[in-house]
This record gives sequence, C-alpha cells and structure tokens, in this order.
Amino acid sequence: MSNKHLSTDAYKGVRDFYPEDAAIQQYIFSTWAKTAESFGFERYDASILEPSDLYKAKGAENEEMVNEQTYTFTDRGDREVTLRPEMTPTVARMVAGRARALSFPLRWYSIPNCFRYERMQRGRLREFWQLNCDIFGTTDHTADVEMIALAYQILIDFGATPDMFEIRVNDRRLMNRLYIALGVPEETIPAITNLNDRRDKIDDQSYRTELKKILGGNGLLVEEIIMMLDKSDEQTDVVIALSELGITNVVFDKSLARGFDYYTGTVFEVRDTSPDNNRALLGGGRYDNLTGLFGGDPIPGIGFGMGDVTMRDFLETHKLLPENLQKTTSTVVAIPADSTFNLEAHKAAKVIRDSGISVTTDIGTKKLGKKISDASDKGAEYIIVVGEDEVSSQSFSLKNLSTGEETSGPINKIIESL
Ligand code: HAM
Repeated sequence: MSNKHLSTDAYKGVRDFYPEDAAIQQYIFSTWAKTAESFGFERYDASILEPSDLYKAKGAENEEMVNEQTYTFTDRGDREVTLRPEMTPTVARMVAGRARALSFPLRWYSIPNCFRYERMQRGRLREFWQLNCDIFGTTDHTADVEMIALAYQILIDFGATPDMFEIRVNDRRLMNRLYIALGVPEETIPAITNLNDRRDKIDDQSYRTELKKILGGNGLLVEEIIMMLDKSDEQTDVVIALSELGITNVVFDKSLARGFDYYTGTVFEVRDTSPDNNRALLGGGRYDNLTGLFGGDPIPGIGFGMGDVTMRDFLETHKLLPENLQKTTSTVVAIPADSTFNLEAHKAAKVIRDSGISVTTDIGTKKLGKKISDASDKGAEYIIVVGEDEVSSQSFSLKNLSTGEETSGPINKIIESL
C-alpha cells in the first residue's frame, strides 16, 4: 500500500452535509413533508437497492437512463442490482404488490435519495434527494390538477411568489392525436417525444436534422411538426381547472416531452424564472399502465418528483432561505472549572438533561472565561460552572447569560428555576 494520503473530498457528484448544509436540507425536507401532508399524503419508503430488471422492463425504460446513467453492479449472489435513479418504478411495484389490500385513490409521498451517473452541472448531481408525490387509482383529471396544485403550494409555502416560477403542461394523448392528424407514422412518435425532450438543449439545425432522420427524410413533415409545436392554440381541462383554483402561472407547451416512456397523459414541469437556474425544479406526469408490469390490472398513477439541488438553488437565488436555520447549541452549557472536573460536569449535565432540558458539557481545553463567552456566542441561555466548591457543597449556581442573573442551590432547585 502506498502511503499517499486519502482525499478529504466526497466522491464525485455527491455531497457532504456539514451542519450548516444539513440544517438547510432539514428545512427543505420538513417543508416538503408538511405541505404534502396538508393535502392528505401518507409517507412511505423503500430501499435504495432494486433489482436492475425493474428499470429494463418494457414500458418502464428510459434508454438513456438505463444504459448510461444507472449505478449498477452484480452482488455476491450474482444478482444484478441498481441504486435507484428514481422512485416511480419502486412505488408502482409497492402499490401493485398490495393492490388488493389498498384502498384507492391513495396519496403517497416519500423523500428518497436517488443516484444517476449524469454529467454534472448546476442543478444536476449524481446523488440527490427527491420529493415524490403520487396519486394512484384514479383517471379523473382533477387528480392531475391536484398534483400540480400541490407542487404550486409547496413553492408558495417556501415563501415564493408566482412570478418566480412557471408551470408548463402538455398532454401525450393530445400530442398523439396531433401527430397522427399530420400523418406522422405512429411508431415514430416515441422517438419524436424523446427528441423534443432535448429540444431546448440542442440548436435548431441539429433538431431539424434529427427529426428528419426519424421521419425517413420527409422534410415537409418536419416543417409541419415544428409549426404545430410552436403554435400555442391549445388549452386542456387541466389548465382551465388550474386557473379556477387561482393558479395562473401556467403555460401549455407542446414541446414539453419529459424523458420517460411510461407517461401516458398529462406531463408537467416547473421552471425557475431566474435565468441562473435553467433546470426544471420538478417534473411529473400521468402513467396509466406502469403497475401492469407486475401482472394484474393496471392501476393509473399521476405524480411528480422535486429535487433538493434545484430546490436549494431556487431558495438561494430568490433569497427565500430563513436565517439561523442552524441550531447551534443547547439551552445550558455545563463548564468544568478545570479538566479534573470534567466528569463531575457530565454528572450535573445528566441530572439537568433528565429533566428534559438540553445541556452541552464543554470539556474543551480553553480557559474558563473563553468557554463562557463561547457559550454565549453559540446562543446558550445559561451556564453552570462545576468546580471544587460546587462538588464539595453540592450547591451550584446557574447564570442567565442575557440578564446576568444567578440562581444558587442544590441541583434540584436549579432545575426548578429553569
Ligand atoms: P425527473 O424529471 O427525472 O422525473 O426528475 C424530477 C426532478 O428531480 C427534476 O426536476 C430535478 O429537480 C430532480 N433531479 C433529477 N435528476 C437530478 C440530478 N441528477 N441531480 C439533481 N436533481 C435531479 C422523475 O424522476 C420522475 N420519476 C418523477 C415522477 C414521479 N413522475 C411521476 N411520479
């Protein structure tokens, strides 16, 4: 073994969460959970590991994702395993597994971490957390409306205003009808949808060239398709219903494709209106056949995934993160007069803590005066010094750091005064 030192960097594309980052993460997760629960969603969870077949099955696959973006390995028992790149196949598996016992429509949410071996860029990492909210067991279009209204409400609950984001909606059923009406061969529609998913990432010429290739060289059809996509003349029930709920930052966008083959109806995305953040904040759609992969009757689903990376970028860009998210210390700091009293300080701390008050014991090597100012800097409310006199008399004094007031006496009396 070489004696070269190991790097302190995290693995490429994943993050360490130092306390200040963990505090932000926690704030994002708890806001997500609170809003999802306010719509009646129940929390579920699953393992990070899934059999690789789950992502290869016909109807579930997203070719780019399965072939290029998954972390897949063979375990010691020769099983092919994948770190989940998304939650939708997992939740479909779970719902199909209990289809008879569950009562529909059901609303479930989860906050899993997901792994994708992607090219890293702003808003895209290799490990991210993703709020997943899905409704199963109804084809009613108001479920689609509810999902988009939930996504909207989450952003509002973070303090956002509607001008900060835009909701884009499309519908695969409508798109199929429009393509067929233009004479587009039905079997080429999935390839066109896939290409449209990349339309805003490639230049116009490459888009035309690729589209022409898919259409077997039919240049006239290429022009007709582009005209149809760019004409904004459509409204759907979903968009109309959203405006009745007062949600008007919505555009119907026929170019919106979404990268997954499993979507069968409404698809939607939310974009940050700040040019700094050009990746979607969330994406979702209706998938009416996914549970059919597991046998049994298909159970329709509609949902979305919302990532923590783009969420944090959004909150930072629009200055929506509350200050002081990081809770630095406990209510009381117990300070030994010198290091020979460390254990005695721990004992006093335990008694106070047992009464339900948080206590840190400062066993550092700094001078007493410095420890007292540290406690105050970190936001502790009280200190209690433990030294020779206190231990022999079992009488302690508790100092209120903001008023300077002191309470002395046996530890029980101190606790009462807290
Ligand atoms: P998705 O569009 O692949 O959809 O991802 C949804 C969101 O997850 C994105 O808009 C983004 O916020 C976040 N995300 C995706 N990939 C990354 C990445 N590499 N780094 C950081 N954040 C990322 C889905 O995953 C669908 N399964 C969502 C869904 C749920 N559809 C129905 N139900």
